[in-house]
This record gives sequence, structure tokens and C-alpha cells, in this order.
Amino acid sequence: MNSSQYRVFVCTKQRPADSSEGCCCDRGALDIYQAFQDEVDRLQLGDRVEVRKSGCLDRCEAGVVAMVYQPNRGEFNWLPTKLRVKLRKLLFPKRYLYGNLTTDDVRAIVQRHLLNGQVVRQSQISTNE
Ligand code: FES
Repeated sequence: MNSSQYRVFVCTKQRPADSSEGCCCDRGALDIYQAFQDEVDRLQLGDRVEVRKSGCLDRCEAGVVAMVYQPNRGEFNWLPTKLRVKLRKLLFPKRYLYGNLTTDDVRAIVQRHLLNGQVVRQSQISTNE
């Protein structure tokens, strides 16, 4: 990963059709992922924002789910990756979960949160602020 100001992880988990849990993929996660990519490209935020597909973010009932994460650069770079990630989660938990996402929500999140630093409360499902 590069040193982006924000990272967006879009859950694209796909479960079997007979799964009782459902999954974000069946609710249009790939379209939401593409909408994030398109909006970031349109606003030329590629050097500040990194959009990635992720596995289950453990809020399947609110799919499609995406997490906006504001990494802290440079801390603990001398540690092994797994330990570094755990420490960052504990010490710098600036993570925001958005759910029930539509492409309109994506535009709002990119323009308000990623561009102006304002959390989009109406789409937010939890935070570790
Ligand atoms: S399948 Fe997307 S949050 Fe669980």
C-alpha cells in the first residue's frame, strides 16, 4: 500500500446462494466498489485515497458495507506487518463504517468525508472514533 491519506475498504464478500447470512456481493458491492473508484478518479484524488476490495467487515446485515480508514503514516514501520496493524488498530482507531450503500451515498462519502474530512452521519453504521 502507498501512503494515502484515506483508505476505503469495500466489502465484496460473496457467499454461496443458499447461505442464510447473505453477503455484500449479492447487494451490489462490485458496483459500489466501482463507484468509489470512479468518483476518486473523477475528483483526481488518487494520490490521497486508495480504494480496495475487502472481505467481510462483520456487518453483513447492513450490506453493502465500506470502511473508511485514516492510517497514521510511519508509526511502527520497524515492526512486522501483523503486529504493526494490530497496534495501529488499538492506538489509532480512526475507522468509520458505512452501510446500506448506494451510489449516491458513495458520491457523498467521497465529496464530504474524503475531500473535506466530514463524516457522513446518515450512512454511518459505527465508528471507533
Ligand atoms: S459480507 Fe459484507 S460485511 Fe459481511
